[in-house]
Amino acid sequence: MKILVIGSGGREHALVWKLAQSPHVTQMWCAPGNVGIAEERLAKNSGAVECVNISTDQLPALLAFAQEKKVDLTVVGPDNPLALGIVDFFQKSGQRIWGPNQKAAQFESSKVFSQDFMEKHGIPTACAGTFSDVKEARRFAESLEGKCAVKADGLALGKGVLICATLEEAKKAIDEILVNKAFGIAGAKIVIQEFLEGMEISLHAICDGKTAKLFPTAQDHKRALEGDQGLNTGGMGTYSPTPFLNETELAETGRKILFPWLKGCAEEGIDFRGILYPGIMLTKNGPKVLEFNARFGDPETQIYLTRLESDLVEVLDASVNGTLDKIDLKWNSNASVCVVMASGGYPGDYAKGKPISGLDVVAKLPNTKVFHAGNARHGNRIVTNGGRVLGVTSWASDLKKARAAAYLAVGKIQFDGAQFRRDIAAKALGQ
Ligand code: AMP
Ligand code: GLY
Repeated sequence: MKILVIGSGGREHALVWKLAQSPHVTQMWCAPGNVGIAEERLAKNSGAVECVNISTDQLPALLAFAQEKKVDLTVVGPDNPLALGIVDFFQKSGQRIWGPNQKAAQFESSKVFSQDFMEKHGIPTACAGTFSDVKEARRFAESLEGKCAVKADGLALGKGVLICATLEEAKKAIDEILVNKAFGIAGAKIVIQEFLEGMEISLHAICDGKTAKLFPTAQDHKRALEGDQGLNTGGMGTYSPTPFLNETELAETGRKILFPWLKGCAEEGIDFRGILYPGIMLTKNGPKVLEFNARFGDPETQIYLTRLESDLVEVLDASVNGTLDKIDLKWNSNASVCVVMASGGYPGDYAKGKPISGLDVVAKLPNTKVFHAGNARHGNRIVTNGGRVLGVTSWASDLKKARAAAYLAVGKIQFDGAQFRRDIAAKALGQ
């Protein structure tokens, strides 16, 4: 089977790494890929994974490539091509592709759509309103005494959510998005949610239009600094499983969210084939959905795929074919921890081109894998080239050991200004 993966981050490196282990895969490309992806080899024939210089939003070029190489399955990593309708575009030409179509991808590409859907179909979420009128938005924020999350409707590079503690902040946030158009057209409408307190966790479910199968629990660390301080980022580290939701509670949460979600999709003619990734707040009144994403999380993928025993090609195939009810997702009993090493200053401005050392040493460590993201090759050196640079991932029989192994590996990697959190998975261990 010939596979094309779309994307260039740590998530896509993890997808390529896992797909390359499948005996079904004879050839693989990644557009545009990254330094780490280019070093992966296929288990079946030791063939190299080839990176192709096409960006994720060049849909006609991606389709032409898939057709020319007779790709059997294209796997979409990031949200942007999904929101642009890459799945519909490929399918129109009879090209097989994994991911939600444009209508289904609205769960991520429109927060207004998601909020309306959750309210209509009884999915537990925050008390919220959707607005395009400034005065109405302010009135609603006043009713919440300013304690709220103000969210731009559309995709805004992960920056479109403003958390407010006072009415002043809420008014400023509303003006920023609706009046000053800080996020352009993505902010033509906003969702205002009550501020929810609790522990935040990530859920993932693979779906095929009729069936949704939950993954184990995971927790991301969104803030840049230790102790959940500093600015929101794409994610500074993850671990799985999390002790904050046991097996029974996970199954119960799945029932409360996925049953009405699947029923709602059926009623509204939404054929969702891909990953549904709800961000959940565990509040004292039960779990509530903060948002839906319509793709694998980054860096959740890095820990999930180091725990997945099943053949990922077979899982994605079943998702495309509508046969997920016929397969069992198998997970190993390991815990997995991913610590993100970022460029100094991220998520603000940061320097690029800093040489990275120690990767060769870490490559020899057992049960550890470094997933590459924002870096580049300069001659025979690997240098930093983005915000999140590496996802250092280790697994072991328990969380304490996995965490120690991940930090041991992090300690062996150096680049100028390297920034990482020292408390990934610490809360889970009562530290
Ligand atoms: P979102 O992209 O909607 O998940 O929002 C980004 C981050 O903002 C989330 O991961 C939460 O940490 C935080 N957040 C979003 N909505 C709320 C809310 N209603 N209450 C508290 N925090 C929130
Ligand atoms: N882990 C955060 C995200 O993928 O959006």
